[in-house]
Amino acid sequence: MAQQGIRQFLDIGSGIPTEGNTHQVVGALAPDAHVVYVDNDLVAVNQSVGLLEREGATTTTVIEADLRNPSSILNHPQAQRLIDFDKPMGLLIVSVLPFVPPADNPHEVMAQYRKALPSGSYLAISHVSVEEAGPEAREQVAAVANSYVETSDPITMRGREEFHSFFGSFKLVEPGVVYSPDWRPDQTVNSDDPARPCNFAAVGQKP
Ligand SMILES: C[S@@+](CC[C@H](N)C(=O)[O-])C[C@H]1O[C@@H](n2cnc3c(N)ncnc32)[C@H](O)[C@@H]1O
Repeated sequence: MAQQGIRQFLDIGSGIPTEGNTHQVVGALAPDAHVVYVDNDLVAVNQSVGLLEREGATTTTVIEADLRNPSSILNHPQAQRLIDFDKPMGLLIVSVLPFVPPADNPHEVMAQYRKALPSGSYLAISHVSVEEAGPEAREQVAAVANSYVETSDPITMRGREEFHSFFGSFKLVEPGVVYSPDWRPDQTVNSDDPARPCNFAAVGQKP
């Protein structure tokens, strides 16, 4: 996205900062880029605040909010301060939708985000799936999912078709919907890895 000229990013469900965070990856290409992180987990938010304070970041911020409430994010004063909703932006929802069960209307929620994005914006999504995985990987992923059952964030698996539908009428950029390791890899992909089919990824652009 940054290579395509995008200079403002909303990263929802950004998580606990590790290596190669969005503002760092984007910042290497475009130091003037604006990044708004969002998470509903206070630990993730506080650790992000700590990192940004240590870095003295001025064009990156983090807000505590819930993906399922688009207006609380899109109208948040910090999002309004750093993102010009009249200019193309990048929306990242990476490994977060599995935490939105069908009862929380993920398709309606995503439709609201797609509507809010200005033309030319990009949407990147990844999502765990076992639909195309072999028995060994299925079992392992199911075991991980089961460990979430009793938590406040149970996991919902989704297949390729439902994953694709989160993009609505957005035009997918190459290579379309693929397993995450296959999305423009910058290292050799091990096609024999049983975990390879367990996560879909795609990037779409609003016409
Ligand atoms: C698997 S982590 C992914 C983190 C990061 N996007 C990445 O790919 O490394 C999922 C993150 O989504 C956050 N999350 C889950 N449900 C959310 C919701 N409804 N609204 C906002 N964040 C949410 C969790 O707190 C967690 O930090």
